[in-house]
Amino acid sequence: MQEIISQLVNETEKAISVTNELRVLNDLKVEVLGKSGKLTAYLRGLKDVSAEERPKIGQYVNDARVKLEGAFDKAETILKQADLNRKLAEEKIDITLPYSGKSRGALHPLTQVRERIIGYFVSLGFGVVDTPEIETDYYNFSALNIPPDHPARDAQDTLFVADNIVLRSHTSTGQIRVMEKQKPPIKVISHGRVYRADEPDATHSPMFHQLEGLVIDKGVTMCDLKGILDGFASFIFGAGTTTRLRPSYFPFTEPSVEVDASCAGCKGAGCRICKGTGWIEILGAGIVNRRVLEGCGINPDIYSGFAFGMGLDRITTILYGINDLRVMFDNDMRFLKQFV
Ligand code: PHE
Repeated sequence: MQEIISQLVNETEKAISVTNELRVLNDLKVEVLGKSGKLTAYLRGLKDVSAEERPKIGQYVNDARVKLEGAFDKAETILKQADLNRKLAEEKIDITLPYSGKSRGALHPLTQVRERIIGYFVSLGFGVVDTPEIETDYYNFSALNIPPDHPARDAQDTLFVADNIVLRSHTSTGQIRVMEKQKPPIKVISHGRVYRADEPDATHSPMFHQLEGLVIDKGVTMCDLKGILDGFASFIFGAGTTTRLRPSYFPFTEPSVEVDASCAGCKGAGCRICKGTGWIEILGAGIVNRRVLEGCGINPDIYSGFAFGMGLDRITTILYGINDLRVMFDNDMRFLKQFV
């Protein structure tokens, strides 16, 4: 019996010494030391050995086991190290190789600005919604308290796809879609392409991009709006930028304001960018009209809120000093390459 066991130990040790692959080593280990392995079988067979022989042989089998386990461990460590060394050598990157000269792509300036602005509002806890570009009259106009005789409803200003179906002329449509589904508190931005029947020129495009914010809760006031807008202006145009609100009119907000940011170029002194005024118009805003809340099933005696909407194309042209909107849609590489 002892002889058979020591023979198994010798054979196994020999097999281990010629194994140069971890997988093969592992198979061998299972074959000898595993649950139904050769050495384990001897341990099981002990019950057939006479009582006085049993301790001796048991000890012998155990010693063999310890010895082989040690041999397997040692071989495994060596093979693992060899494996690692091989990988390190194979996957080595030659950092001295010269640059291939291929130029890297970049995001469109409009996308860069949009992502930054969305990031800002998300950091303030706003959710982001994406609503349809093709809308019904109801979402684009009626629900926003835009009366039937309003000029925006004229085919000269809005692109109609069919009777009562339009390419949305603003992202305020998102306000209605959110308020219909969600009860206050609401804090979202909706953004995307909008369309108007304009001839393209330096400051107009039949397709452009808006980003709209909506906050509805108990006790929301114009002060909250002003605070958010000051924070936003400083974030996008630089620390110290302030805003001023000028009275304006939108059917869906009451009161309504135009919002100007202090000119970052001249710090308010007056320059070419702000046409000498020290201020740049950046967006429209206001307190959501009671009739709009009511139409969405929100009680205006309990809840109030503000909305603001900006043209992303406009913010982008201001930020980069672009004086013709059309270059943004021309896909001219000489223009785009400046934003890498
Ligand atoms: N929807 C308005 C526009 O397109 C902007 C706006 C949004 C004004 C929200 C007030 C509140 O000009």
